[in-house]
Amino acid sequence: MTDLVSSGKISTSTLGESVRPDFPILERRFGPNPLVYLDNAATSQKPRAVLDALVNYYCDVNSNIGRGYYQLSMAATDAYEAARDSIRRAINAEHADEVVFTPGTTAAVNLLADTFGRSAVSAGDQVVVTGMEHNSNMLPWRRLCETTGAELVVVPVGPEGRVAIDRFAAALGPRVKLAAVAHVSNVLGTVNPVRDMIGEAHRHGIPVLVDGAQAVPHRPVDVRDLDADFYCFSGHKIYGPMGIGVLYGKRELLSRLEPYQVGGGTVKGVTLDEPVAYVPVPARLEAGTPHIAGAIGLAAAFDYVQQLGWTEIQRHDDLLVYAAIEALESIARVRILGDPAAQPSGIVSFVVDGIHPYDVGGHLDRHGVAVRSGVHCANVFIDTFGEVGTVRLSFAVYNTEAEIDLVRRALATVQPGFWTAEHPTERFLATDPATQNQH
Ligand SMILES: Cc1ncc(COP(=O)(O)O)c(C=O)c1O
Repeated sequence: MTDLVSSGKISTSTLGESVRPDFPILERRFGPNPLVYLDNAATSQKPRAVLDALVNYYCDVNSNIGRGYYQLSMAATDAYEAARDSIRRAINAEHADEVVFTPGTTAAVNLLADTFGRSAVSAGDQVVVTGMEHNSNMLPWRRLCETTGAELVVVPVGPEGRVAIDRFAAALGPRVKLAAVAHVSNVLGTVNPVRDMIGEAHRHGIPVLVDGAQAVPHRPVDVRDLDADFYCFSGHKIYGPMGIGVLYGKRELLSRLEPYQVGGGTVKGVTLDEPVAYVPVPARLEAGTPHIAGAIGLAAAFDYVQQLGWTEIQRHDDLLVYAAIEALESIARVRILGDPAAQPSGIVSFVVDGIHPYDVGGHLDRHGVAVRSGVHCANVFIDTFGEVGTVRLSFAVYNTEAEIDLVRRALATVQPGFWTAEHPTERFLATDPATQNQH
């Protein structure tokens, strides 16, 4: 499989070096080392086009939306709604009012758990998730189940890191009121067969939420083709600003939701002695002043990736993933987690036998390489592997094969205790097993 690169089956990419000038932060150095940023699954860096969109908004248009009958406010309202429509087009939603802006994926899942969850799930019901979920798509459902007396069903994931469709199907039945599944694993980059999973769930009349946080930066997402009932993601992982994300929902489902938070922007009118009349979605679910600049910046981020082109982006991802696998397989004591042949999307996770992932991460940092090490907010999934954590390389359009080669060379000299010896109070190293795996 790793011969794919050396045999030339994956052709070289036009991205990488050519787009680096778009990202000002990549000029930073850490001592003698240029920044090698390989923690893109945590957050991606921002291109000038997105930074400009933010600055332009604040310089030219800044005012509050929907409440001001003056030109500037109307321009801000138009720009915010244009951003919503641009994201509708990017994910192929049918209607702009199916796109709700949230602060991110976590906020979107919590919104859904507190609205849809509270109305649809009661004692004796079930909510189905998979064993590879990020805590943000696990804990809101777990809490909902704990407070309602429902049962959280976790579809197990095998050590190869995939959700088997038959195991997922076996978990579905009349008691299940929702399935909430990751599109792409944030630990292994595994791509779940979400279209088929949604099809299975729909045969039972079960709606599905897809957590697309790690999918949207790497592949074109078509919510109608997937037939997703709900789909959420964070803007900051797709080169957009922090603090903005999206909850997509089919109109007939979203429009039935009660407001999540109440307050300004959610009401038609309020009197003291009559029931409150709320406005329709999406404003009904966006109480208070939204992140207007963030929405505009997110639309600019989608424009940016669309200009690069999804075909190029996916080719570039494949190239880097396979180059990373090839590099890691050449190093003694390195084990790649999951099934490298499963075509991971933009992410490769590994461990170095006998060396704590924090030591590996700290060692790479000394070479200017930024990676994530630990459990990646996916504690249950990491437990599947019996590891204390992994080191995760996650790629973006500006990463290069030369950076992967630097990682390979740096790993050749990694030693136990490099970083952890200097950070003895680190919670992760606590001898009490109950306090381990907190990160
Ligand atoms: C799969 C997945 N879901 C949810 C989240 C949470 O995203 P955010 O912190 O932007 O809300 C992440 C973040 O890493 C993620 O990878």
